[in-house]
Amino acid sequence: MINSSPDHEKIFDEILKMNPDEVQAKPDSAGDHPGTKVHESEINFNLLPEELEEFLNRYIINQESSIEIIATKVCTHFNRMKIEMNIPEDQRIVGNIKSNMLLIGPTGVGKTYIIKHIAKKIGVPFVKADATKFSETGYVGGDVEDLVRELVYEADGDIAKAEYGIIYIDEIDKIASSGNTSGPDVSRTGVQRNLLKLMEESEVDLKTPHDLASQVEAAMEAQRTGKVTRKKINTKNILFIVSGAFSNLPDIINKRLNRQSIGFDKLRTSAAAKQEVIKQLKTEDLIEFGFESEFIGRLPVSVILNELDVDGLYKILKNSHSTVVFGKKMDFKAYGIDLDFSDDALMELAKRAHLEKTGARGLLSVFEKLLIKFEKKLPSTDIKKLYVDMNLINNPDKTLSALLLEDGLTKFQKEFLIEHGIYLSFDDESKTKLEKKSNESNKKIRDLCDELFKDFFHGIRLMKLEAFTIPGAAVDNPKEFLDSYIKQNYKTQV
Ligand SMILES: Nc1ncnc2c1ncn2[C@@H]1O[C@H](COP(=O)(O)OP(=O)(O)OP(=O)(O)O)[C@@H](O)[C@H]1O
Ligand SMILES: [Mg+2]
Repeated sequence: MINSSPDHEKIFDEILKMNPDEVQAKPDSAGDHPGTKVHESEINFNLLPEELEEFLNRYIINQESSIEIIATKVCTHFNRMKIEMNIPEDQRIVGNIKSNMLLIGPTGVGKTYIIKHIAKKIGVPFVKADATKFSETGYVGGDVEDLVRELVYEADGDIAKAEYGIIYIDEIDKIASSGNTSGPDVSRTGVQRNLLKLMEESEVDLKTPHDLASQVEAAMEAQRTGKVTRKKINTKNILFIVSGAFSNLPDIINKRLNRQSIGFDKLRTSAAAKQEVIKQLKTEDLIEFGFESEFIGRLPVSVILNELDVDGLYKILKNSHSTVVFGKKMDFKAYGIDLDFSDDALMELAKRAHLEKTGARGLLSVFEKLLIKFEKKLPSTDIKKLYVDMNLINNPDKTLSALLLEDGLTKFQKEFLIEHGIYLSFDDESKTKLEKKSNESNKKIRDLCDELFKDFFHGIRLMKLEAFTIPGAAVDNPKEFLDSYIKQNYKTQV
């Protein structure tokens, strides 16, 4: 709540006259925490909303309207903090409300991806956690305050720096209660209460009560220095971003809108319709979903992310910053193989990924499904290039088998030429038969050729030939074939 007494109005006036560029932020807690690196940290933040927005849009596809809000609120949070740190503590606004954010969107649409890019770009300490980790707090598992301590760890022990970090909590919908007053619900509501304290302002002890080692260390330090050092982290400037899929939220909104009977089934299934419904979200829907009103009250900014359609998924694949294609290329590059894709192949993969209904995560699984056998087999060959086109997509096994055949034959040919000075080739029938035999016996083409034709050089030499084409019959029964071939041709030769 903003206190607008005349005193405050004067202060507001002064603040508003300040030029942000001239403000040199200094951490207000300097000196409060002996033994920590408070003096080193200053907020070195001068990004503008449009700059952050432009940066994020380079990496994240089809989330322009969400990015607009997120980039603006993140920048305002840090730029405001920079100004506020310059104001004496006793003159600051009391009960300031931060721009903590709630991101709502199905799996794999970029929630975590956006936040990771923000943390990277603005260089503040960043901690990511799953709300489910805290579902049994107080009994087993972690304590929400651990997140704040982790920020100090991320800030290399610099408490002041940690005090303006970002805490990102995923799967927040899992700590909504279903309305029961016992069992896990009690604990979920408990987690919400603990979190909301942090989300506003509280002081967290750096030493955990359950961490015996740090307690002993503190006691020893107190003995040595004669002082009990107070190491606390204030959370008032820490930005909290929470996210979740909230899958049955559209049902709740529909119910409020009294829409359940009108085309409800259609609304349930159509992604676009669902998205339309979610856009009408009100705080009361989140309370109905199972959140305490106080908890939702600490999340003034809510952002609804888009589902990704086929076109969006294709754009992700075509994006030069995309980690999906790049990651897969790196997997192959690890074996010296250059991987490339045709555009229509990428479109087909986007279509297949869309059917998985897991957003961009579906892309990863279709890539794996398609390429895993190539990733296993090609490293043992001399193949240094793989081009994924529609032919490969429609016939992956056949394509792989043909590649392995050509590679194995070339290897055997080369070895045979070097060893015996004879150039071997294979007709189409022998190739088909070798391929079949290799697949059935699970033997590599080169090994199979070695087994079948390694003694052929005696016969071929006898005939004084420098080149020889292996026919299909030679694959079926190499010894018999060679014997009869020699018998027939030796006679005619003599
Ligand atoms: N909109 C997008 N643009 C570009 N890449 C994306 C997008 N959404 C997701 N991705 C890719 O998919 C991966 C997974 O996305 P992310 O981790 O952000 O999912 P999420 O929305 O947090 O889902 P979940 O609810 O399952 O945690 C990212 O690492 C990124 O490579
Ligand atoms: Mg995520």
